Amino acid sequence: MLRMCLPISVIKEPSPGAKGDKALLYIIANWKMHGSKTFVQTFMQSLASYLVPDSGVSLIICPPTLYIQSLCEQIKILNIPFIQIGAQHSFAGSQTEGAFTGEHSASMLQESGCRYLLMGHSERRQYFAQTEAQIVQQGQSAYNAGLVPILCVGESLEQRQAAQTFEVIEGQLESFLSNFQIPVQAKDKVDLIIAYEPLWAIGTGLVATPEQSEAVHAWIRAYVEDRYPRFAKGLSVVYGGSVKPANAEALLAQPSMDGLLIGGSSMDAEALADIYAKAVSI
Ligand code: PGA
Repeated sequence: MLRMCLPISVIKEPSPGAKGDKALLYIIANWKMHGSKTFVQTFMQSLASYLVPDSGVSLIICPPTLYIQSLCEQIKILNIPFIQIGAQHSFAGSQTEGAFTGEHSASMLQESGCRYLLMGHSERRQYFAQTEAQIVQQGQSAYNAGLVPILCVGESLEQRQAAQTFEVIEGQLESFLSNFQIPVQAKDKVDLIIAYEPLWAIGTGLVATPEQSEAVHAWIRAYVEDRYPRFAKGLSVVYGGSVKPANAEALLAQPSMDGLLIGGSSMDAEALADIYAKAVSI
């Protein structure tokens, strides 16, 4: 069961629905290590035929790095410039270039057409031993390059069962936000997307209930407002973990929900367009 009270370090009550001045919803597709050049072409043609764009819902696709260029080309050819591109990985250091074989920097991603950068995804934490310090560095480099970080946080099944959900997320948020140098170009707000992705829901078919996701989202928002008000105004909190057309609407209807991060279902153009349409109708 989810602990329904806030850790003592957060003194304000959550304010459900308090979304700052942002009414925008995000639908974010995480393709992980899937796809091919041909897939990008056929997927985008199909997506363009299903999608009815709306200025209130932002669609971001995060392909494997090698297909960013192909995605840019398809967006241009199909004249669908409202689709934005996010990257799944960047070099976790302050250098924008250097002798780091196999890496690519946030500024290279920005130059290649990306506007967003995923970081802290549980698959990178688990399979690539990504550390909190590396995630902070990725966030810092993202801001320096003009990219918006999409920071993934979430608890394991064991941690949820031990009622440690908020403690785990507090640790992840604290290590990211407390170590941050606010970018010089930031004036009154710093854009940040936090993706609540419970590990037990990623790729498992198990999805957090709308009530479970709402409780965590409201808590995250209250925590940031209380501890890091500089980030509160530009903050969006999205949910990820086994999102499908069948469960998207109920999740999106929650007051503290700013959108969805979708893995498996985002490889199906019709399903992604359907989830997008549901976000438009909210
Ligand atoms: P899933 O993945 O939708 O396949 O569960 C979500 C994610 O890992 O971002």
